[in-house]
Amino acid sequence: MKIMSVVGARPQFVKLAPIAHAITAAGHEHVIVHTGQHYDPMLSDVFFRDLKIPTPDAHLGVGSGSHGVQTGAILAQMDEVLERFQPDCVLVYGDTNSTLAAAVSAVKLHFPVAHLEAGLRSFNRSMPEEHNRVLTDHAADLCLAPTAVAMKHLATEGLTDTAVLVGDVMTDVLYQVRDGLLANGTQNPLADIDAPNGYYVATIHRAENTNDPERLREVVAALGAADKPVVLLAHPRVRAKAEEHSISLNSGALIARDPLSYPELIASVLSSSGVVTDSGGLQKEAFLLRVPCTTVRHETEWVETIELGWNVLANSTDEITAALTRPAPEATEATPYGDGDAATRAVQAIVDGIKPRA
Ligand code: UD1
Repeated sequence: MKIMSVVGARPQFVKLAPIAHAITAAGHEHVIVHTGQHYDPMLSDVFFRDLKIPTPDAHLGVGSGSHGVQTGAILAQMDEVLERFQPDCVLVYGDTNSTLAAAVSAVKLHFPVAHLEAGLRSFNRSMPEEHNRVLTDHAADLCLAPTAVAMKHLATEGLTDTAVLVGDVMTDVLYQVRDGLLANGTQNPLADIDAPNGYYVATIHRAENTNDPERLREVVAALGAADKPVVLLAHPRVRAKAEEHSISLNSGALIARDPLSYPELIASVLSSSGVVTDSGGLQKEAFLLRVPCTTVRHETEWVETIELGWNVLANSTDEITAALTRPAPEATEATPYGDGDAATRAVQAIVDGIKPRA
């Protein structure tokens, strides 16, 4: 069977790694298409290198742009790529503009589509990701769900027939990287930070926290008021917005650094007192590493992290301060994101659920 993965943004490269290994291990052919949505080396190349992902077979080089321009640039190039490679299944990941564009291109040309990380919902219709994931789930022939909650959302939308629970592939890759780090002695890239009482790892990049300068100012002030150093691993979007509006990312407790590679990020979180983020993936990574997380959003798709007490939603300065200094969460053995074998199960679900083209 020939499976084509289409990826473009940082979290998709992380999810691609275990899938690429599982496809090859099962003896199937894998074609990788990189849309070029993320092009900075620290957002793209280092993930292919560190996670041993094969070089993409096609690179669309679309770069940045408004939603329509970016999505349209991918659509405009995908027809030729699909015709050239003739995949049996097009696998799309998560909820970015690359996900939606690849799914739409494939269904229009009658290539079967599987959606990895299907069924997640924030129910916040102002997030671009919410539209991307809802539209992709409804276009897909196969919805590969990471959690029981995601399965429930798919059922509510009438998608039970196409839904399969496979677990979360981010668990697979996280456990492998964590075990490698622990076996080889963790090299914490933030060891030089002067933090005798610990530090927090922060990432902020969502449109709802960065596009409005007043909102960005508020978030930056709240992080600056923390009781320990807050190391902001600054995505290019937050750097660009801060510069545009003369907002300093180095004030009070806040220290801005460049983004880290995946193993470096995991090492820095393992040694931290907590995580502050608006990323989806990092909330889960913190939980899987059993590090308390504070999420700067009004809702989350990863409700299990909240229910189990390891994640708290906080938006105002007071809420963020209270969340950072809250008592340690209660220990748990719960595994809502699977046991680390989701990629193998996802590939099997594709083989079982999608008929190879004649
Ligand atoms: C995208 C995803 C988001 C995901 C995030 C992970 C969408 C709608 N959003 O957001 O769901 O959580 O990736 O990081 O697809 N930029 C660079 N270099 C790059 C990439 C981006 O400088 O390599 C800057 C550009 O100014 C660009 C901005 O970041 O305009 C936003 O990039 P974009 O890819 O549109 O969205 P992300 O914020 O990265």
